[in-house]
Order: sequence, then structure tokens, then C-alpha cells
Amino acid sequence: MFFLNFEGGRRISMDQNLLKSVRTAFTAEFKSQPLVVWAPGRINIIGEHTDYNMGYVLPAAIDLGITLAIQRSKEDQCTIIAHDLDEKYTFHLFQKNSEAHKGWQAYFLGILEELRKAAIKIEPFNLLFSGDIPAGAGLSSSAALENAFIFGLNSLFELRLSPMEMIQISHSAEHNYVGVQCGIMDQYISMYGKDDHAIFLDCQSLKSELIPLKDENFEWLLLNTQVKHSLADSAYNQRRISCESVAKQLGAKSLREVNSELLYQNQAAIPQEDFQKALYVIQENNRVLLAVQAIKEKDFEALGRLMYESHEGLQHQYEVSCDELDFLVDLSREQEGVLGARMMGGGFGGCTLNLVKKVACLSFLNIANGLYQKRFGTVLSSFIVKPGEGCRLVPQEPN
Ligand code: GLA
Repeated sequence: MFFLNFEGGRRISMDQNLLKSVRTAFTAEFKSQPLVVWAPGRINIIGEHTDYNMGYVLPAAIDLGITLAIQRSKEDQCTIIAHDLDEKYTFHLFQKNSEAHKGWQAYFLGILEELRKAAIKIEPFNLLFSGDIPAGAGLSSSAALENAFIFGLNSLFELRLSPMEMIQISHSAEHNYVGVQCGIMDQYISMYGKDDHAIFLDCQSLKSELIPLKDENFEWLLLNTQVKHSLADSAYNQRRISCESVAKQLGAKSLREVNSELLYQNQAAIPQEDFQKALYVIQENNRVLLAVQAIKEKDFEALGRLMYESHEGLQHQYEVSCDELDFLVDLSREQEGVLGARMMGGGFGGCTLNLVKKVACLSFLNIANGLYQKRFGTVLSSFIVKPGEGCRLVPQEPN
């Protein structure tokens, strides 16, 4: 992954350092050679809050992710180390846990709970993980962590789970243990991502198409507001309930089966708030189809316009944006070389995704950072990301 340095715009590759520090720390702590897994975060070009409505999404895995080292334990207990936080958690496998875990432990315990339910047997293990995805930035650090863990267990204990089965386990852990009623997008793209491609995914059929996304003239620039509003998870679940209630009212299994004509015909019977949310979802699905077309035709101006439309829908209809995100999207409109921008992910904070001409990237970044700091008193963090590969085992270093 690359950090953009404000002064020089120099790019520094960090991956190898992360990998090395995880291996070294694991070996020092547990005195054994681990299996190492890497799982990426993601961007979503367009198609927000459509996945749990069985609609379309267009995400790409990125070159920021979680590196996780795992090996069998000789003890009868498991130890997990969150390297970046310098925290250690030791527990016995499948022992009912009375403590409620709200932190990073929940992702691990959730996966273990899903394995227990499915009667899939594993043995004690030691694990250490570290990452370069900023948590809470809407880049799916949680899906990356879940995928890295199940992928690591699958390899270590030869569980023979398919990628889709691993995705389902990660997804169920998020629902049943972490408590976010998310869609499938994040776990899916973190598993299946491809270098230089986005994936056009139909969340109903789970059919997908690789969409080439390499263009030498543009960058995908993330601007991190550094905020995460505390009601984000409950508001997310509430949006899902609204959408499902509209679908039910219209006799449909999901909003995927509802078109705007049907929705308008029934407008009077639907609470106004819910109507706007459902309308947004129907329109956003359509924008995904148009965006795929635009990318295929290399019409990046059109793609940028669709990103702005998506943001407007998220801001005014779906109501999952916030002042910080709106500020960044608004200011981007006046900047030369910025083709499109929108909030990304669940919302209420995190990053904006910006499609920017390469030549304009640094000046846009400097302007955005100056204005943001003046308005909110916070320094933006920023990343240029490349569409990258999904979850994988990292080969052993040659001796
Ligand atoms: C979060 C969820 C995803 C998706 C997005 C919004 O990232 O995990 O399933 O719903 O929000 O598009």
C-alpha cells in the first residue's frame, strides 16, 4: 500500500515491513514458524447499502489489509495478540464466554462460535495480527480480520472449506456475534479481490463479473475524516429494517424485486422516511449498472457524475452521511481534476472515495487538508489505493 506524503508526494511501499514485523513478533512470542495470511480491506466504487437489499455492488479489494500469523499451540489454550494495540487475549476453545466482547476479540470469538455451531473441529492455536487499514474508516477492516482468521484456520487445520463457505462464516459471525446486520459485500470482496479489477457482484444470485479498473491517468484517493459517529451500527441496522419493511409491504422478498413504478404507486401507504430509503436503493442499483457500462467504455467523467449522484442519495435520501463527509464531497466539486467523490461504506464517518486525475492529486489533497483542518480542527489522513488481490497465504520466506 502507499501513503501519500504531503510534501513530496512520495510513495512508500509498506507491505513487506508489515509482513516482516508480524513474522518476527510471532516467532519471538511463540517460538514457532507460523502460517501467514493476508486479507485486504476494500473500496466500493458504487452501490452503497444495496448488498443487504439483494442488489448490485461494485467493490474492489485494496492494497491495505490485515496480516495474520497462526500456528498450533502446544498448550490447551489459545492466545491471540493484537500486535498494533499490544494486547493479548488468552482463552480456552469453545468455552462459553460470559464476558461481552465489544472489541477486536468479538471477531475471533464470533468465527469460533460459527465453527462450533457447524460442528467443525479445530485445536488450540496461537495467533498474532497487525494491519495497515485504519479501523473505523469504512474500509472493512473487520471483514478483513474475519476472513484472515477463517482462512488461517482453514489452512492450518485442513478444514477444506471453500472460499464461499469461509465468506458465509465471516458474514454470520458479523451478524450473530458482532451484531451488525451487514450484507455480503465486504467479506466477498476481501476473499475474491483481483489485481487491477473491481468486481460487479449481484448480491442476489452471487454471480459476479471482473471489471478491469486500471487506468494510468487516474487515482483512487481516500480522504479519511477520522470520525466515526457512535450510532453508526444501530443506524445501519435501522436502515435495513426500513428497507425490508417496504419490501414486505409490497409483497416482495427484497427491494431487488421492486421497481420505482411499483414504489411510486404505493407511495401513500409507505411512511415518507421509508419511501425515500427504498427509492434510494432502487436508484443506486441502477447507478451501479450505469457505472459498469461507463467503466467498460472508459467514460470516467460519467463514472464521476454517478459517484456524486450516489453521494447525494446517501446524504439526503438514505441519510447515512455526516457534516465531515459532505464537506469533503462538496469541496471536491470545485477542484480541477476531481471527476467524482462520495462517502463510502456504512456511513456516519470514515472516508470519501475520490476519482482524481493523477496530475491533480497532490494539489487537491493539499487544498482539502487545509480547508478540512480549518473547518474541523482535524488533520485528514489520505491514501491512494490500488485494486488488489483477495485473501491469500503468504509464502514462507526462503531461508
Ligand atoms: C458496510 C457493510 C456492507 C455494506 C456497506 C454499505 O460496509 O458491511 O455490507 O452494506 O456497509 O454499502
